[in-house]
Amino acid sequence: MNIDIGNALLDDATPGLRTDRLETLDEQVADAHERIADGRARDEFGYAALNLPETTDPDGIREACGDFEDSEAVLTVGIGGSALGAATITEAIGDGTAHYVLDNVDPAQTESVLAALDFTETAVHVVSRSGTTAETLSNFLLVREAMADDGVDWTERTIVTTGDSGPLRSLAETHNLPVLEVPAGVPGRFSALSTVGLVPAVITGCDIEALLAGGKSGAESLSPSLFDCPAYAYGAVAYALDQQGAGANVMMPYAEGLEAFAEWFAQLWAESLGKAGMGQTPVRALGATDQHSQLQLYRAGPRDKMVTLLRPARREPLTIPETDIEALEYLGGTDLGEVLDAEFEATEASLAEAGCPNVRIEFDRLDAHSLGRLLYDMEAACILAGELYGVDTFTQPAVEWGKRAARGLLGAKETEEAQAVTNKRTRR
Ligand code: PA5
Repeated sequence: MNIDIGNALLDDATPGLRTDRLETLDEQVADAHERIADGRARDEFGYAALNLPETTDPDGIREACGDFEDSEAVLTVGIGGSALGAATITEAIGDGTAHYVLDNVDPAQTESVLAALDFTETAVHVVSRSGTTAETLSNFLLVREAMADDGVDWTERTIVTTGDSGPLRSLAETHNLPVLEVPAGVPGRFSALSTVGLVPAVITGCDIEALLAGGKSGAESLSPSLFDCPAYAYGAVAYALDQQGAGANVMMPYAEGLEAFAEWFAQLWAESLGKAGMGQTPVRALGATDQHSQLQLYRAGPRDKMVTLLRPARREPLTIPETDIEALEYLGGTDLGEVLDAEFEATEASLAEAGCPNVRIEFDRLDAHSLGRLLYDMEAACILAGELYGVDTFTQPAVEWGKRAARGLLGAKETEEAQAVTNKRTRR
C-alpha cells in the first residue's frame, strides 16, 4: 500500500504541515511505536487487535460456517464494531451473496429486512461482544420470531459470536447454538479481521486467508519511522494536521465497493480518538459522486479539514463505446476506470491548488489481500494517532453511557444514567 503525503506538506497554508515538522513528528512516532510494540507483545487490551492476522484461526471460522456456506443470504444482527467490519468486507469483495445488516432499531427497516428474507436459505449471525446491547438483542428476538413464523428451526440457522459471558452467551448456551468467541483484548471497532468480520465473509465467498495475509503484510510493515511505515505516516500526518486546524478528515474512496469502508473508518476514527476535547471529525464521502456536491465546500469552505483520497491502481476494464457526436469523441474508446481516475486526479489537484491538505492512499486492486492490508493499516494509523494525542484509544465511555441510559429507560436495572436523562428532560 502506498500513502502519499506530499499534498499535506504545505509550508504556507493553514492547515498544512511544514516539511521540518516531519522530523519532530518522526521522533514522536518512534516513541509511540515502542509503546505499541510493547502492548502487542503483552497482548494488552486494544493492542492485541494488531496481532489478529497471526491469532485469527481461519480454519476454525470455516469449520463453524460449514453448515451455512451454501446459504443464499446472510443476516448480521449487530451494531457499530459488531457490524461495520463485516459490511465493509462483504461489500468490497463478496461474491454477490446477499449480506443484510440489522444494526439500527427502526421498526420500518427491521420489518422490511424480515419481509425480504427467505429464512430457509439464510444464515443468521448474531454478534455482540458484551452480549448486552439492546439494539442487537431486540432485533435478534424479532428475527427469531420471524424464523419460527416461517416454520424454520432458528437454532439450526443461527450462529452467535460473543464474549465469554453475558445474556447473549446464556441464550446461545440455553439453545445449544454454535458460538464463536470475540477474541479477548479486541475492541469492537478493531475486530474486522476476527470472527466478528469473517463469518459473513466466509458465507459470501470471500478469501479470508488472503484478507489475513494482507493484514499480516501490514503488521510486517510497522516500523519506528513514519518515513518507512505507510500506516504510521497516515496516522501521524492526520494528527499533525489536526494540530494545525484540520479538525475534520474527509475519507473519500474512489471505488463504490469501498463506500462501507468510509463508514467503518468514520467509526474507527471518531470512537477511538474523540476524547478529552480532541479528535478529528471523520466525514464520509464517495468519489466521484460527491465531487458534484461536497467538493465545493472542501475547496472553498472553512480551512478546517484534510481530505483522504483512496483508490485502487487497477480496475475492471469497461470500454465506453465510440460515438458519432463530435463533442463526445474524447470519451469513445476510453475505459470507464480512466474517467474515474481522471476525476480522482482532478479533485486532488483542485484541493492542492487551493491549499487544502490531502493525502493519497493507493493499493494495487480491490481484492482480499489489499483490503486486509487497508483495514490493518488504518487500525494501526488510528492506534498511532491515539498515542500522539495521548488518549485512551480503546475505550468508548460516551458510547457506553448512552447504551446504559437507553437500557435504563427501557426498564433494565441501569438507573443512574436513565435518571440523568429524565432530569435533563424535566429541566426543559
Ligand atoms: O467499537 C465498539 O466498541 C462499539 O462500536 C461496539 O462494537 C458497539 O457498541 C456494539 O457493542 P457490542 O458488540 O458489545 O454489542
